[in-house]
Amino acid sequence: MSGPVTIAIDGPAGSGKSTLSRALAARLGVGRLDTGAMYRSVAWAVLQRGIDTAELDAVAEVARTLDLEVGDRVTADGTDITEAIRGPEVSAAVSPVAANPAVRAVMVARQRAWVAEHGGGVVEGRDIGSVVLPDADLKLYLTASPEVRAARRSEEGAEAVARRDRLDSTRALSPLEVPDGARVIDTGALGVDEIVEEVVAWL
Ligand code: CDP
Repeated sequence: MSGPVTIAIDGPAGSGKSTLSRALAARLGVGRLDTGAMYRSVAWAVLQRGIDTAELDAVAEVARTLDLEVGDRVTADGTDITEAIRGPEVSAAVSPVAANPAVRAVMVARQRAWVAEHGGGVVEGRDIGSVVLPDADLKLYLTASPEVRAARRSEEGAEAVARRDRLDSTRALSPLEVPDGARVIDTGALGVDEIVEEVVAWL
């Protein structure tokens, strides 16, 4: 395949999306967008402002007005929050924030704009193949056993990871699901280099 390529990667917490998307983007020489970091950043700003995640309009206003830069580092309104958004407080607040339809509308629009600006790339999240980029060149859905995934998120804890997965999979709008036409990969069974070569061969 030649020309710009668009790859959608979805999967539950700790399924290996970030590791694979980084490796694939480097292998293909294209950009990578971590959409989970975008929702985490909104959750961080909501907590920072003392807003309850149930206050839908106030949370949506944060999403609309936050000046976000998501790359190797993540900054919100000029503050570097790369490490802060991985903490347990943000992990506990992010699913309710991401279930807010107005927040999703803002984020999906920004994600599509990123792809248009970059002429494609590797985009990872929960609804990329199903909603954000249904026409992606390749859709991947990553899995791994609950034990493997909890071990990868040991700071967060197995129970918190299971709760987040449950919320993400059962919300009304854009729940986590295997997108139509996605290839399912068990990342507990294969090394990242092997997966990258397999995926490149599918393009
Ligand atoms: O790295 P991990 O898989 O643990 O999570 P993440 O990709 O950083 O995503 C954090 C949270 O953001 C998820 O639990 C979802 O609630 C939300 N999210 C979403 O709703 N839609 C996306 N496209 C990406 C993330």
